[in-house]
Amino acid sequence: MSTNPAAGDPLSVFRRLLTDEGQALLAKLRSYDPGRELAVATRLRRDHPAELVSAAIAQARLRQRAAAKFGAGDAARMYFTPDGVEQATRASVAAYRAGRFAALGVRSLADLCCGNGGDAIALARAGIEVLAVDRSPLACAVARANAGALGLSDLIEVRCADVTEVDASGFDAVFADPARRGGRGGRGRIFDPEAYSPPLSWAVEAARRAPLAALKVAPGIPHEAVPQDAAAQWISDGGDVKEAVLWFGAASRGAPRVRATLLPGPRTLDSAGLPDPPCGPVGRCLYEPDGAVIRAHLVAEVAERVGGRLIDPTIAYVTSDEYRPTPYATAYEITDTLPFNVKRLKALLRERGVGTLTVKKRGSAVEPEELRRKVKPSGPESATVFLTRVAGAPTMLLGHPLR
Ligand SMILES: C[S@@+](CC[C@H](N)C(=O)[O-])C[C@H]1O[C@@H](n2cnc3c(N)ncnc32)[C@H](O)[C@@H]1O
Repeated sequence: MSTNPAAGDPLSVFRRLLTDEGQALLAKLRSYDPGRELAVATRLRRDHPAELVSAAIAQARLRQRAAAKFGAGDAARMYFTPDGVEQATRASVAAYRAGRFAALGVRSLADLCCGNGGDAIALARAGIEVLAVDRSPLACAVARANAGALGLSDLIEVRCADVTEVDASGFDAVFADPARRGGRGGRGRIFDPEAYSPPLSWAVEAARRAPLAALKVAPGIPHEAVPQDAAAQWISDGGDVKEAVLWFGAASRGAPRVRATLLPGPRTLDSAGLPDPPCGPVGRCLYEPDGAVIRAHLVAEVAERVGGRLIDPTIAYVTSDEYRPTPYATAYEITDTLPFNVKRLKALLRERGVGTLTVKKRGSAVEPEELRRKVKPSGPESATVFLTRVAGAPTMLLGHPLR
């Protein structure tokens, strides 16, 4: 069985999914079960063209994949391309950003590089009129279908064009999310901002022409690549760093140059321009800063809040003697600080009856799985071991999370 709908031109195959017959097929695949795909496809092909059945099954699969980003309810009504699901902003992050635009008074916005419409949808739901532009005719057809499926057609106009040829003047704001995939034979991620499509330098110029703008970039963007007139914000969701956003114009004036925002919440930590924190011995508490805090280089701000110090000048673990809860870091109580030694760890875990071992590492080459295999934890207790460096020396810290 072939489930590849690419036998016809992808755009016309997608359009057929929007016809009554395509919709009827998608309705039949609402509770799509990958384990029964062959049987389902065979049955559906008795009454429908094979190519359309394949396209509907591919769409059902994409909807399942998209549920993690868009929620099951929206994903079941939306349409996706494989690249579009991968590249779309997750709904929680898009909604947060859209809320910021709305709070800044934005009522109309040009979304340059809209893809399947993840951001355009969140912006429209925040009450903003959106011109959504993409050069891919298929992405545009999908974005348009999504606006319709979610009842947002009045607020989203989709235009198929190269963004470098679009006049975005007249809008309150510009948002751009350049494509960052295509390296390594078309599949890998691109790390050089000038290799984005369109290149970051083009997007920065477009942002500067607008009264207010935001550019979504990879969270690994080096701080030196952040333009002087931009305010950079690193965003994590549920502890995973999702993106960095460069804000321009009215959104950057008076704003701290760097901030970290943690979702859900949101909780935002602003740069206070603090110098590196001092280093000192491991105390009773160890704080593991959120990834957005680390990417934003705000570990010093967290250390100051908890009255802490670094365990090593090159490692983003903060320690203190007294527990001070903070939303910007996960705190652990440390019970043992020992030079790194697998045998010693094994003996200690046996002595404590630790059967559930969480391995965390920073500044250590040891593979957590390999370590777990070697120490063979067994017993009713649980513990966390940190493999790291303390004042340059390979060290293991044993502890448990503080709530
Ligand atoms: C990262 S995706 C956008 C995802 C979108 N923000 C979302 O949440 O669904 C980038 C998009 O940029 C489009 N693109 C790349 N270069 C472009 C250009 N020069 N003009 C218009 N679109 C372009 C690609 O076709 C792709 O759909």
